[in-house]
Amino acid sequence: MAAYFHRRAWLTRISVLIAALALAACHDNGASAKPSANQNPSANQNPSSMQPVATAVAAASASAQHSLQMWVRYPQPNTSLSPMAALGKQIFFDTSLSASGKVACSTCHDPNHAYGPPNGLAAQLGGEDMQHQGTRAVPSLRYMGFTPKFTRHYAVPDADGVEDEGPTGGFTHDGEVDSLHEQAKIPLLNVNEMANKDAAAVSTKLRAAKYADQFTKLFGADIFSKPEKALEQATAALEAFETEDSSFQPYTSKFDAVMVGNADFTPEELRGYVLFNNPLKGNCTKCHIDSPGPGGRPAQFTDFGFEAVGVPRNLEIAANHDPKYFDLGLCGPTRKDLAKETNFCGMFKTPTVRNTAMRQVFFHNGRFHNLEDTLRFYVERDTAPQKWYADKNGKVVQYDDMPAKYRDNIDHVNAPFNRKKGDVPAMNGDEIRDMIAFLKTLDDGYSQHSGAKQGN
Ligand code: HEC
Ligand code: HEC
Repeated sequence: MAAYFHRRAWLTRISVLIAALALAACHDNGASAKPSANQNPSANQNPSSMQPVATAVAAASASAQHSLQMWVRYPQPNTSLSPMAALGKQIFFDTSLSASGKVACSTCHDPNHAYGPPNGLAAQLGGEDMQHQGTRAVPSLRYMGFTPKFTRHYAVPDADGVEDEGPTGGFTHDGEVDSLHEQAKIPLLNVNEMANKDAAAVSTKLRAAKYADQFTKLFGADIFSKPEKALEQATAALEAFETEDSSFQPYTSKFDAVMVGNADFTPEELRGYVLFNNPLKGNCTKCHIDSPGPGGRPAQFTDFGFEAVGVPRNLEIAANHDPKYFDLGLCGPTRKDLAKETNFCGMFKTPTVRNTAMRQVFFHNGRFHNLEDTLRFYVERDTAPQKWYADKNGKVVQYDDMPAKYRDNIDHVNAPFNRKKGDVPAMNGDEIRDMIAFLKTLDDGYSQHSGAKQGN
């Protein structure tokens, strides 16, 4: 209840802030922040790692900057890992578990890059010979803790009853798996990644690993004679590491420091923040929610929902050289169970934008390599499509990474996607620069402790 009260109070403040800035800028007045009702339950939350440590209570203040303070409860850093998680940590960094001997989870999910890709490749190379290219960009593994289980119809209570937010949740870009241990099997066995033939191949490698003793101590002396069980335990250990280790949810960004009242946005960052929240401009918070959740849960910058954004086809991905191949997210071909639900074709999961400014590849197919192009695409997708889509025989093929019959699934309702050819884009060049300044405040590493002052 307390959290609810503070959230509403904050929404009122942000509305005032938007209105003030909008009036000052002499356009878009009357804008008011729409409360983002889409707050998901913490299906996969590990309670032990979510104890409140820093509680920032919104203080009444005359200054616009201080009015940004919110009531947020940051998780207590874990000082020691359970034996299971400590084992998972060794597995995560172990290249000997791949057929090539060169790839570990950490090769693609680099802890120095917020557990995202260390390079600008649209999709990484792996497999036995390290020449097999994947078909999707590597997501960051930070802030996965509140990912709800996948559902086709996510119901959110609102003033009129219940609103269907559509498909939501699950792991990977298409939400195919509901738990981190199920997910971990995919790279271990995928021919483009760690390329183990089967559970027996993984088990043989685990038996030879330097932590084999710890493995038998936890799971029994005969564990390696039961390969399916050994694989299950290895993936459970990975899940424990990804859930317990504080490096997966540090909340050490400048944004968090501002929320606690330990830092102020610069004028550029503040303008970007307001654009992020303005439903007529960036409208980013509609999907990348930037307000605290129930119980003071820190903003996750995603609602875990699925959208067809219509990202252009990326020929850096070899599979896309086959004109008949389309990665349609929810409806396949990677995911198989929703192939008949063609109204979901082209939809991908909304990623968190925490640490997005560190990335060198954006969207599920890594089509863009910097934030400026990513954001210009967002606002010019429909106003100037010729800049973003390939043309065929002199005709621009808008939404060229989806077969024509599914293009109705593309979002045209929410700003910044609600424009037509020739319209003024939802944001201009200066506004995009301000937005990037704000997005940079979401990079972890500003402080050492959640929400603390710079460097502390
Ligand atoms: C060769 C690169 C590569 C390796 C190695 C790799 N991954 Fe990934 N990972 C990816 C890609 C690409 C995706 C997105 C897959 C998709 O959408 O189909 C992904 C997705 C994930 C996700 C889903 C994240 C989310 O928020 O939905 C998790 C969790 C994950 N990987 C964990 C691991 C673990 C654990 C390992 C080691 C056992 C591992 N990965 C090894 C490339 C890799
Ligand atoms: C209607 C929902 C929606 C809105 C509004 C929205 N996004 Fe997104 N965003 C998504 C989805 C879905 C994806 C993933 C699309 C894909 O991979 O095909 C995404 C991806 C991104 C990415 C790439 C992140 C990565 O890890 O690859 C960035 C950056 C981003 N959005 C920023 C923004 C900003 C800034 C705004 C406001 C200008 C915004 N988004 C508005 C749904 C939305």
